[in-house]
Amino acid sequence: MTASLIPTLPGAYYTDPAVFRQEQERVFEAMWFCAVRSSDIPSPGRFRTVQIGRESVLVSRARDNSVKAFLNICRHRGAKLCLDEEGEVKRAFQCPYHAWTYGLDGKLIAAPNLTKMPDIDRVEYGLVNVHVREWLGYVWVCLADKPPSFDEDVIGACTERLGDASAIDHYDIPNLSVGRRIVYDVQANWKLIVENFMECYHCATIHPELTEVLPEFTEGLAAQYYVGHGAEFGTEIQGFTVDGSEGLDRIPTVSEDQDRRYYAITVKPQVFINLVPDHVILHRMFPLAPDRTVVECDWLYLPSVVESGKDVSRSVELFHRVNEQDFEACERCQPAMSSRAYAKGGVLVPSEHHIGAFHEWLLERLA
Ligand code: FES
Ligand SMILES: [Fe+2]
Repeated sequence: MTASLIPTLPGAYYTDPAVFRQEQERVFEAMWFCAVRSSDIPSPGRFRTVQIGRESVLVSRARDNSVKAFLNICRHRGAKLCLDEEGEVKRAFQCPYHAWTYGLDGKLIAAPNLTKMPDIDRVEYGLVNVHVREWLGYVWVCLADKPPSFDEDVIGACTERLGDASAIDHYDIPNLSVGRRIVYDVQANWKLIVENFMECYHCATIHPELTEVLPEFTEGLAAQYYVGHGAEFGTEIQGFTVDGSEGLDRIPTVSEDQDRRYYAITVKPQVFINLVPDHVILHRMFPLAPDRTVVECDWLYLPSVVESGKDVSRSVELFHRVNEQDFEACERCQPAMSSRAYAKGGVLVPSEHHIGAFHEWLLERLA
C-alpha cells in the first residue's frame, strides 16, 4: 500500500454485534452524550426518554426547574417506567406494574402498602440518577460513575475546531429556537455517519446544492481539516438556502469574519454542529444497532424568526437534502461492510486522512 492511502477499519467493525456492544459500554455509556434540547422539557413534569448505549434514560425537569436524568427503570422489579418517548406528568412518575411512584426529583414517594414497610429508604429506592449538564441549550447526560471532563471533551472539541474558545458563543445557541426538527432513521452504522460528516471528498459527487452555495467544497477538502477555517459562500450566493436565495435574520452577535461562512464541528461521539450566520443545525445521533442509527436534526433560528412565522423552508431544505444525500450514501455502504471485498476494510485518500485519527481514537477506547 502506498503512503497516500491508509487503511480504514475492517468491515466487521461496522457489523459485529460484539463490537457494537463494546462501543455502547466504552463510548456511549462512558462519554458525555447530547440527549435532548432543553426546550423539549420546558416545564416541571415534562419528560423525554432516550436510548443511550444499552440504557433507556428519562430526562425531565423537577419542580425547581432543574434538569434531571434517571435510568428509566423502576426500582421495585425493574419494569420500564416511562414507555413514551415524550410526555408530561403532573407530580410524579408512576410505574405501570405495581404503582411505585417517584417524585420529579426521583425520590420514592408512594407505593401500595408503603406505610407498612417502614424500613424502605425512599432515597435509596428512588430512581437512579445520572450526571447532567446543560450546554448550548441541550441536556448532555453521562452514565459513567465519574464523568470525563466536559470542558475537555465537549467544549474542547469546539475550541479545537474553531481555534478560539469564544467563537461558538457568537452564535448564541442556548437562546435560539427550534424552527424545524427532522428525525432520520438511518440503516447504517454510526461510524459511517461520522466518517461521512468528517470528509468532503464526496461533496462534488452527491451534494449539488451544497457545492453551489459553498464552491470550495467542490475541491473535496473538508473544512474541518483546517483549524478556524469556515467555507465561504459563493460570490452570487445571498444566503445558506437551497437555491442560494436570501436567508433569515442574521444572529446579531455573529462576527464579521464569521459572516458568509459555514463551519462544521464534530463532537465525538454523536454530535455534529453546523454554523452559518443566520442559523445553527445540530445533529444528535442515537446508535440503536450495528446497522441502525436514529439522527435527530434541529434547525435553530433567532426566536423572533420562529415566532413571526417567517418561511424557513428554503433554509431548512438545503441541509435536509444534504442529510438525505449523506444518509443514502451511508446506507449504500452498510450492506457492503459484510462483503468479503471489505473484510480488511478500504482505504482513505489524503483528504480523508483525518478519519484515520477517528479510527485510532476509537480503537484506543475499545482496547
Ligand atoms: S416493577 Fe415497578 S412497581 Fe413493580
Ligand atoms: Fe456530505
